[in-house]
Amino acid sequence: MTNRVRKAIFPVGGMGTRFLPATKAMPKEMLPVVDRPLIQYAVDEARAAGIEQFIFVTGRGKSAIEDHFDRSIELEALLAAKGKSAELDDIHESLLQPGNIAYVRQQEPLGLGHAVWCARHLVGDEPFAVLLADDLIQAETPCLRQMVDVFDAAGGNVIAAMEVPDEHTSRYGIIDSGGADGRVRPVTGLVEKPAQGSAPSNLAVIGRYILTPEVFTELERRETGAGGEIQLTDAMAKLIGRQPFHGLAFEGRRFDCGDKLGFLEANVAFALERDDLGPGTREMLARIGDLSE
Ligand code: UTP
Repeated sequence: MTNRVRKAIFPVGGMGTRFLPATKAMPKEMLPVVDRPLIQYAVDEARAAGIEQFIFVTGRGKSAIEDHFDRSIELEALLAAKGKSAELDDIHESLLQPGNIAYVRQQEPLGLGHAVWCARHLVGDEPFAVLLADDLIQAETPCLRQMVDVFDAAGGNVIAAMEVPDEHTSRYGIIDSGGADGRVRPVTGLVEKPAQGSAPSNLAVIGRYILTPEVFTELERRETGAGGEIQLTDAMAKLIGRQPFHGLAFEGRRFDCGDKLGFLEANVAFALERDDLGPGTREMLARIGDLSE
């Protein structure tokens, strides 16, 4: 068994109900933040972490994602003929090597755990990453890179986590780290969406995971949890105590782009960071500020 994290799963089979009607005919993962779709950010983050094989777990109506990572010979010829070399370079950079991208279909959206399980044969017996594209992370060192560094040093399972206020703990999977603090904490328990007031900590799991293949054995049981879905958190929780398990309080800012306000905030934050759009965005925000007074 290789001990490098070479493969990443991108579960994109969800229905995106929080973003209707935009997501009726378009996958949530194709919503653009500034000028690239969410899924492109996740793939670029995985690439920066050394991932070589990209596994998408798709569902009905998700073919735009496949097209996005495919060659578009006509478009490329048109851009070349018009001398639009910057746009052409951008398109080429977003492509993955032939054969390094695979699609597997989740026939029914039975939950994130089920989506990950659908990729089991493509992952095989090695550690792997899972990235949820609707969790967009702005960071100097890409989040998954930070996690791979922890994995290379400590092995086992690594999950990304962030502090959330008390009133938000019921929205997330929450880590119990036995009161430990620091950037890398041992995970001694995991609770999916704990009832208000019962959370073991304020450390919320977000959509980046490095997992060992043993999680597939747990997912195989197809046990349902919160919301009647097959939850990844529940399967991970079963591995605690049997394998090293770390929560990484990553450096960076996470935006929940599956939620309308989180998505708007991400657009503004990413535009502000850009040399070409930052100054214009600042002026725009000042104008909107004036209007709202
Ligand atoms: P969400 O909980 O955000 O669900 O899934 P969703 O269906 O995408 O969106 P809402 O809540 O209805 O608006 C978290 C991640 O897990 C994937 C989603 O695509 C998303 O990346 N997922 C979820 C699947 O791939 N399959 C599922 O059955 C459920």
